[in-house]
Amino acid sequence: MDAAFHKTTKKESAWQETMYIEEPPNKGGVLSCIFSLKEEVGALAKALRLFEENGINLTHIESRPSRLNKGEYEFFVNVDATCSKSLDEVIDHLRAQISGHIIELSRNKIKDTVPWFPRDIQDLDRFANQILSYGSELDADHPGFTDPVYRTRRKEFADIAYNYKYGQPIPRVEYTEEEKKTWRTVFQKLKSLYPTHACKEHNQVFPLLEKYCGYKEDNIPQLEDISKFLQSCTGFSLRPVAGLLSSRDFLAGLAFRVFHSTQYIRHSSKPMYTPEPDICHEVLGHVPLFADPSFAQFSQEIGLASLGAPDEYIEKLATVYWFTVEFGLCKQDSEIKAYGAGLLSSFGELHYCLTDKPEVHPFDPEKTAVQKYPITEFQPVYFVAESFDNAKEKVRKFAATIPKPFSLRYNPYTRSVEVLDNIQQLQNLADNINGELATLCNALKKMV
Ligand SMILES: [Fe+2]
Repeated sequence: MDAAFHKTTKKESAWQETMYIEEPPNKGGVLSCIFSLKEEVGALAKALRLFEENGINLTHIESRPSRLNKGEYEFFVNVDATCSKSLDEVIDHLRAQISGHIIELSRNKIKDTVPWFPRDIQDLDRFANQILSYGSELDADHPGFTDPVYRTRRKEFADIAYNYKYGQPIPRVEYTEEEKKTWRTVFQKLKSLYPTHACKEHNQVFPLLEKYCGYKEDNIPQLEDISKFLQSCTGFSLRPVAGLLSSRDFLAGLAFRVFHSTQYIRHSSKPMYTPEPDICHEVLGHVPLFADPSFAQFSQEIGLASLGAPDEYIEKLATVYWFTVEFGLCKQDSEIKAYGAGLLSSFGELHYCLTDKPEVHPFDPEKTAVQKYPITEFQPVYFVAESFDNAKEKVRKFAATIPKPFSLRYNPYTRSVEVLDNIQQLQNLADNINGELATLCNALKKMV
């Protein structure tokens, strides 16, 4: 028990009629309860004994004047319900033994209808076991399907990703001469189109990647070097991935500024074609944009919106992701440029997307989210963003329409997602905002 507990003993009294119970904001098996007591000597001790008798540890307790009944006090306790009983048992016990009624604010909604989502960056390790396809199992129409050497190689890459755990350096790969030759062909062709077709953010970052991350014609860059570079720019990091993740898992990574990246390269027989993402797609298409602060925020916004979202909204968000991060166009000055990785890693489509052949619409998440699209041919429709900041605001508004019983906030210090569903969390957020505002005011004063 902490100091706050001793202060509360002065206000001991019987259980009052209302008790609020809610599901844990961060760890499973922890409840936060608010209850108020009628004026009666010994009541708090009696209430606390109830927790003790049920084998429930109180990890935190504090008091405040009741907002509902003047002169009374409310008690906020954090309960470690995993110590001896399930959450249900704990609630039932409290219900049975506390006179008056219990109001559950969000527990049932969270428990019954919200899909599991990672709360901590380390939770992303779970996804390695949840891939939809293993990286060495190729479809019959894959260019490498009949090549046993290529398939063996793919298994090596898949094993690296399968065994990877958060915090480890991404294993370096010695690419073969054949693989480097494929890379060279792709690199040379695409680089020639970037100055005229890629957005300015891509063109600004690309020389830095050449300087610091080994982007060269004769060298396939290492994911570990790129990941470190991105972390220094925007806090984004890479994780090797063995195969295809579900949209839900893939988008969840973005919430933590983590991008799941393949490490293998396409088959050498068709250097300008790949039916799946490969290292050319990831490092030439995606990586440069993740080094841009606005784009990084925009991507994270999609990821955060996906956490705990119902399945139909995951599909919508995956479609928004498709038409932005993968195939997005944006306005720059009076021109339209490409920023989607699917475009920036495809010589043919990068050229095609800026011709007058495809349809082009303004980016609007409501409409974009329901647009149908082909996955094996050039896109017939593209969406144009005014800017990444503008697109981010639109996604934020769209995300607010997703039915969820809580709000979320990413904590960059702990690399975890906080569920804002109790007063303590809101207090912490307000404190943080206060601090940031003070910094802003200070800076403004010095600039005037
Ligand atoms: Fe991609």
